[in-house]
Amino acid sequence: MASAPPIVQNPDIRLLGRILGDVIRDLGGAELFRRTEAIRAASVERHRGRADVAQLAGELEALNLDDTLSFVRGFMLFSMLANLAEDRQMASSAGAAPETGSSFAEAVQMLEAKGVGREAIRAMLGQARVTPVLTAHPTEVRRKSMIDHRNRIAELMAMRDRGATEAAPGETLEKAIRRQVALLWQTRPLRRERIRVADEIETALAWLRDDFLPVMPRLSEAWAQALGGPVPPFLTIGSWIGGDRDGNPNVTADSLALAMARSAGVLFHWYLAEVHALGAELSLSSELAPVPDAVLRLAERSGDDSPARADEPYRRALTGVYARLAATAEQLSGAPPARPARIVAEPYQSPSEFLADLDCLAEGADAAGVGGGALDLIRIAVGQFGFHLATLDLRQNSDVHEACVGELLRLAGVEADYAALDEAARVELLRSELASPRLLATPLAPVSERTAGELAIFRAAAEARARHGEAAVTTAIVSKTTSLSDLLEPMLLMRETGLLLPGEAPVAGLMVVPLFETIADLQAAPDIMRAFLALPGVAQAARARGAQEVMIGYSDSNKDGGYLTSTWELQRATAALKLVFEEAGVPMQLFHGRGGSVGRGGGSSFAAIRAQPPGTVQGRIRITEQGEVIAAKYGTPEAAARTLDTMAAATLLATLDSPKLPPEEGARYREALDRLSAESFAAYRGLVYGEPGFRAFFRAMTPISEIASLKIGSRPPSRTASYAIEDLRAIPWVFSWAQARVMLPGWYGTGQALAGFADKGLLRAMFADWPFFQAMLDNMEMVLAKSDMGIAARYAELAGPEGAPLFAIIRDGWQRTVDSLLEATGQSRLLERSPVLDTSIRLRLPYLEPLNLLQVELLKRHRAGEEDPRIAEGLQLSVNAIATGLRNSG
Ligand code: PGA
Repeated sequence: MASAPPIVQNPDIRLLGRILGDVIRDLGGAELFRRTEAIRAASVERHRGRADVAQLAGELEALNLDDTLSFVRGFMLFSMLANLAEDRQMASSAGAAPETGSSFAEAVQMLEAKGVGREAIRAMLGQARVTPVLTAHPTEVRRKSMIDHRNRIAELMAMRDRGATEAAPGETLEKAIRRQVALLWQTRPLRRERIRVADEIETALAWLRDDFLPVMPRLSEAWAQALGGPVPPFLTIGSWIGGDRDGNPNVTADSLALAMARSAGVLFHWYLAEVHALGAELSLSSELAPVPDAVLRLAERSGDDSPARADEPYRRALTGVYARLAATAEQLSGAPPARPARIVAEPYQSPSEFLADLDCLAEGADAAGVGGGALDLIRIAVGQFGFHLATLDLRQNSDVHEACVGELLRLAGVEADYAALDEAARVELLRSELASPRLLATPLAPVSERTAGELAIFRAAAEARARHGEAAVTTAIVSKTTSLSDLLEPMLLMRETGLLLPGEAPVAGLMVVPLFETIADLQAAPDIMRAFLALPGVAQAARARGAQEVMIGYSDSNKDGGYLTSTWELQRATAALKLVFEEAGVPMQLFHGRGGSVGRGGGSSFAAIRAQPPGTVQGRIRITEQGEVIAAKYGTPEAAARTLDTMAAATLLATLDSPKLPPEEGARYREALDRLSAESFAAYRGLVYGEPGFRAFFRAMTPISEIASLKIGSRPPSRTASYAIEDLRAIPWVFSWAQARVMLPGWYGTGQALAGFADKGLLRAMFADWPFFQAMLDNMEMVLAKSDMGIAARYAELAGPEGAPLFAIIRDGWQRTVDSLLEATGQSRLLERSPVLDTSIRLRLPYLEPLNLLQVELLKRHRAGEEDPRIAEGLQLSVNAIATGLRNSG
């Protein structure tokens, strides 16, 4: 492999690194500073090939346990500050829009250049839906307080860019930055208590309040400008927090109600503040401005009879709007607003009632030449957020629905053993039940706690829809959908709770959405959806709603079949589903369930959306956003605006300018991928599920058990008590391979497939012409660059001599993957074509290696039964620090 060019240091990293060094010296002592520097220098030397690992190991061995904890914290903070510096670099340089068309305005221009007019774009947007959906998936290791300090530093750095020298009168910027770094140094990075659902709700609300709420209406306004006319509210925001109870017994009907009430609290706080400010602004006097009758009537109805405002109809009207809004806020959030209304008024019954009042005022303001501004922003916001802020999805595992339905049928004397029925009999029984208005649940036969809980959350969803509007909860997602009956079971629970109108063609209030997440389930998806859409009423209801959604799971399909096969099967299923939906005449909406790391579908969202099979996006896309990804992509209003803008741009391009391969090539490429996938699948399954002892090896070589004790999420790490890899959740699986620097889910199997593929020219052509193949290899390359077989070998030693043959298989697969990737992409070393990423990763490596070496030592001591609590703490800190250094590792 060619050697890499020297790294050019980012000046922000130098500044922040110096400040952190000062803080460590001043607060941690000169000795700690000296040791930290010595380790850093040894590691940098080693990465430059000028020293060997023994020198570094020698420095590390000199640390006692207290020093170890402080040292790990220091390196973690350095990684955090280096991430910040890099984010700034990406945002300010060409890195902001690395791909052509990745801003909405640019995408519109590109489309126009290709002859797609603005009318066509607007018409498409009228049917569109782009929704990031926030989930509480536990991959964010940092506490929110740490992230807040980090963001404050980012703000101070931005002030510095603008030429400011003082953060506040008398305080230099550098001093203010230093204070934040000192705060970071003295803030406990680990959680003491397991995070609760209520905490997860609050964390998400902080992002919504600070970064989505103020940004989304403004973006829509900017898009209107780019398009030369109003833009339909196609961008909305979703959430799973308080509704996703798949494997999380802590999510209940109360969680859902709490999430809704708290969201309303945040949303109405914003609405009220905006309307209040508008009242101050719209001081038009009826003696000096034309006032339409409708505005006068609104002013009359407001009940504001203050003589001082007698000639100010807009202000009077807004006093009334404020009062109605305040009453609505209290009703929906359960708490009175901070600034009480001046008069008593009836709550609004719906967002459209509120909007009608705003529209009336806007019409008058436009006529008086003072339209636009805040009034328009609030009107846009009502279209995006309604009275609910974020649409909350329900999610549950199909096994749970099945058990609940079985119990209800048994208690009602309809069917003694539902679980024993075959699929055809289940479907027949469920369909006849859904045709009938007779309920199964009766007070005479109390149900189990689990079934009661499921019925309660559907009831809570019905209640939320009645209170906050139908957009508050629209969807019930069925994890592990493997059959048609899996989709009918939640419909039966809906009937029991008043969310479904029974009949030959039952009408469900919530859209039932399958989540296909194993390779076999992805392959069965088209048939299941064909059967579902053929049921009476289903296609019709979907058309009335706008579309039927299908969710596809990246992580579990990866854990099941390996990187290449999962990536390919997701693509194949998507293309096959498109045909099924076309046959049924129903628009399809895909919901991509992906995480931050490549093994869970991570990577550039822009490239991922652009790489979707032609004709499958059609303006509609939902994507999960979770864990550390939320802070990275939406952590500041600027970042959120960029991310959402890019997402909208990608959707526009994927819909209206989807790159199509010539049919003959397409067929050849697909056939090649089928063969590659078969090879990769065999290699992956052969190792992970086929090699005896692999499960024990995985548990010994990675910190999987220690990760389970991190208190970063409200849900348990496994759905069951079993140790099987099939039952382990995908997140800890991916996370632990990342810590050991193997990153197996991001590549394993691919090397064997590519190396064994004879037609290398075809692979190169596929990489050159096919966005799908490009994105797949690009993402894999990033993962390979972060993996390190030298470090991994040290982890493998934890598994003892029995582990050696298994590690040899992994190491060999890794080498083949790297070699064949370089060959297909025409490079002489990894990341040769991606200098920004290359620099970023290589800057990080010298900070990661010492952490990995320390982690291995701590694992040894921990597993040998040493009881000093500092060992467990050090381990957890090291997990945090390595995850921070790797960025998207969870
Ligand atoms: P899940 O998510 O385990 O909640 O289905 C999988 C993932 O996103 O990794």
